[in-house]
Amino acid sequence: MSVHKEIKRVTTHVLQEMKFRNEKISMLTAYDYSMAKIVDEAGTEIILVGDSASNVMAGHETTLPITLDQMIYHASSVIRAVKRALVVVDLPFGTYQGNSKSALDSAVRIMKESGAHAVKLEGGREIKESVHRILTAGIPVMGHLGLTPQSIYKFGTYTVRARDEEEADRLIEDALALQETGCFALILEKVPAELASKVAATLQIPVIGIGAGNVVDGQVLVVHDMLGITQEFSPRFLRRYHNLYQEMKGAFTNYIADVKSLEFPSEKEQY
Ligand code: KIV
Repeated sequence: MSVHKEIKRVTTHVLQEMKFRNEKISMLTAYDYSMAKIVDEAGTEIILVGDSASNVMAGHETTLPITLDQMIYHASSVIRAVKRALVVVDLPFGTYQGNSKSALDSAVRIMKESGAHAVKLEGGREIKESVHRILTAGIPVMGHLGLTPQSIYKFGTYTVRARDEEEADRLIEDALALQETGCFALILEKVPAELASKVAATLQIPVIGIGAGNVVDGQVLVVHDMLGITQEFSPRFLRRYHNLYQEMKGAFTNYIADVKSLEFPSEKEQY
């Protein structure tokens, strides 16, 4: 008899049941093996291999430069660590907007080459055909509305979206269109809390917010931001659970001083 307790994996059905039970869903990003292992063992339901890797891992100003090959590299590192969470991977800019065939090809590459469980696409009705085609291959799709960073040059700023009635109505219609097409969940980024709660109440599928208040079905944060590793990014919605930048810098400074003073390695740390 095996002594190992079997870990019950989070699936899209589990998330749907959580919404029906009004049990909140937690989601965090991860881009590498070591971080994904900690995030998974902490018990988050969804791990997002976000294209925010373009900012926090590669140092780009926007999410636009990251490539499909780079996303596959990050996703396969994450997958090797995860035993429980549902792993969702962003389709990067330029790999799904052209036509539904290229969207399907990109999603298939992610699933086949990384072993991920689902993909995420930014946009509303304009990407409906792509979402539909990906779904026909049996690949679960998560939507993303509100502030969609891949369209930053269209918006011009990272400010709150859908403050006016016209944009709010459009967002609700887009959310309904994504649900009708078959998305299993939706991210709402940086929209008024009242609008987000209305979307969460209207939709049957889970709505996960980031800067969208707490009357939604769950929350997502970028791990490097919530740990305080990134310092320059400080939007109102971001709660920092740590100041790892300072702690890590302190550890590095101590190490450097120990090396220079011959404090490290000690006799016990040598052969
Ligand atoms: O890329 C990302 O990390 C995201 C989250 C901010 C939702 O899309």
